[in-house]
Amino acid sequence: MSEPRKILVTSALPYANGSIHLGHMLEYIQTDMWVRFQKHRGNQCIYVCADDAHGSAIMLRAEKEGITPEQLIANVQAEHSADFADFLVDFDNFHSTHAEENRELSSHIYLKLRDAGHIATRSITQYFDPEKKMFLADRFIKGTCPKCGTEDQYGDNCEKCGATYAPTDLKDPKSAISGATPVLKDSQHFFFKLPDFQQMLQTWTRSGTLQDAVANKIAEWLDAGLQQWDISRDAPYFGFEIPDEPGKYFYVWLDAPIGYMASFKNLCDRTPELDFDAFWGKDSTAELYHFIGKDIVNFHALFWPAMLEGAGYRKPTGINVHGYLTVNGQKMSKSRGTFIKARTYLDHLSPEYLRYYYAAKLSRGVDDLDLNLEDFVQKVNSDLVGKVVNIASRCAGFIHKGNAGLMVDTNAAPELTEAFLAAAPGIADAYEARDFARAMREIMALADRANAWIADKAPWSLNKQEGKQDEVQAICATGVNLFRQLVIFLKPVLPLLAADAEAFLNVAPLTWNDHQIWLANHQLNEFKPLMTRIDPVKVQAMTDASKEDLTASQTDTGQAQPAGNGELAKDPLSPEIDFDTFAAVDLRVALIVKAEHVEGADKLLRLTLDIGDEQRNVFSGIKSAYPDPSKLDGRLTMMIANLKPRKMKFGISEGMVMAAGPGGEEIYLLSPDSGAKPGQRIK
Ligand code: 2FM
Ligand code: ZN
Repeated sequence: MSEPRKILVTSALPYANGSIHLGHMLEYIQTDMWVRFQKHRGNQCIYVCADDAHGSAIMLRAEKEGITPEQLIANVQAEHSADFADFLVDFDNFHSTHAEENRELSSHIYLKLRDAGHIATRSITQYFDPEKKMFLADRFIKGTCPKCGTEDQYGDNCEKCGATYAPTDLKDPKSAISGATPVLKDSQHFFFKLPDFQQMLQTWTRSGTLQDAVANKIAEWLDAGLQQWDISRDAPYFGFEIPDEPGKYFYVWLDAPIGYMASFKNLCDRTPELDFDAFWGKDSTAELYHFIGKDIVNFHALFWPAMLEGAGYRKPTGINVHGYLTVNGQKMSKSRGTFIKARTYLDHLSPEYLRYYYAAKLSRGVDDLDLNLEDFVQKVNSDLVGKVVNIASRCAGFIHKGNAGLMVDTNAAPELTEAFLAAAPGIADAYEARDFARAMREIMALADRANAWIADKAPWSLNKQEGKQDEVQAICATGVNLFRQLVIFLKPVLPLLAADAEAFLNVAPLTWNDHQIWLANHQLNEFKPLMTRIDPVKVQAMTDASKEDLTASQTDTGQAQPAGNGELAKDPLSPEIDFDTFAAVDLRVALIVKAEHVEGADKLLRLTLDIGDEQRNVFSGIKSAYPDPSKLDGRLTMMIANLKPRKMKFGISEGMVMAAGPGGEEIYLLSPDSGAKPGQRIK
């Protein structure tokens, strides 16, 4: 036997300001299956993660909710931890980047880089919000595109014409936080001198650490020449203050990957047999893998190895990159009910269905993975229930009834047994290479052979014949042994099924090498159904519930904030508001004088509203529900009349009408009872 490998594994740290959804879950399940495989094989494999808790988005979100950032990240951490546990994602540690270990390690790494001459400082000029008294990141500035003149564009690129530019090029810029006109202001920033590591990165990225497609992309960036990386942000900022630099904070992406180390350090500090340096020291012989999505490759394959090298630590053994999740062939969508939160899924379906489906479709490439909900039902029912579990349920009854649950010692299918043994190394290779799809194909091919063999032997017919009892018992004992082997091969993907099967088989927790053992003269426990078929009604209930997750504000504007992975932003937690906050909202009855299409807008209608003493122009994202806007003319609805006017691409929106529903065609404008008059305030 070779020495067990020492392996440290991470998944990307989820932001601490939103819920986990099935897109995130693809990565955590992929990583968890790989980690479980390594543990199953007897390797020392440690899986750490943490919430990514810093940055201005989290600071502003907490402010909006009227809580401290610390409270926000604690609430979210509890939610994330429960979601992961219930999806059977078994971290050895789930920490937070807002932790003392991370502060110490981030400061230490920064000081090492600084003292080795890898930090530069210079003054940069940026937009500053004079009301909020803070510098504005590009996504917090909006204005008119300097190229095509489209209004309401973000500070770095135009959604209409695709132009990219500096925020200072925007015409009529406004702070997206306060609406104030930003002013230009100078400030001293700190830069990590990435070009110092060009040579090292050229070698490292071509040394088998990256998938080819990723290495090729990085080569383009390396050929174009590396830039210094701005690692500081000015107060106010939720993060760690830079040592010796009051008022300057580490940019969230500086301390996020260091969070991998910090989570491991936190685990080491309460696990005497774990040695931090044995995993992170320059001469470490342990393996280190980061599982990430393709949108954050630059941080992991350029900045991170350079930081580690510059600060005297080891570099990763591999960066394992996956693609995005689509659902039913399209980007996840709230209005279609395919933006599915982890918790919404768990409210309706077993985690192992999804784990198996992801495994069946995941290979080692960076292609996107499609969760087709019909295929999902069909594949899980056919493979897991129809093939794997079926073997045990076909055989167990005869052993219990015919031989009091005792498996006889005859192997009635020596050739098939040989084939199972011979397939094991190939299945292990596929797992090792993260080609889960190949592993699942090979396992299901074995299940097909076992089922065909049992069908051919037809113990249910033999059982009716005189003098065939021994044969029936031999067939069924063989069937249960083959089932046991399949369970061993599937255990990294289906840990709950494996635990239930171990209980039925009356065996200790199975490990990979147990596939070489044959159960003979072995007493079984009672057989209970190990997995039930997915009922498509539950899938429908899950997508219906996902539609209900839509917030009213998103319904109204038809827009949502951008979030990582190009996916929609998560729903906010709904904090309680006090009465004064409620009373401050000016809710009015409004008469829709005119409703019309807006040229160039996919989702918006322009509404001219009469609110008694004045008329208002409001843009509302309800077009898909009211394709013929003239039908709204003359109708009463309700509006929030004292919402700060918002400059949108097509003009200024002076308030918001109130609507309910999941979105798409299902948006329902609220109406007062008849008799209400335009302008009346809602009490
Ligand atoms: O993109 C994201 O969701 C980041 N929170 C990932 C951070 S991974 C690591 F570097 F911390
Ligand atoms: Zn433009």
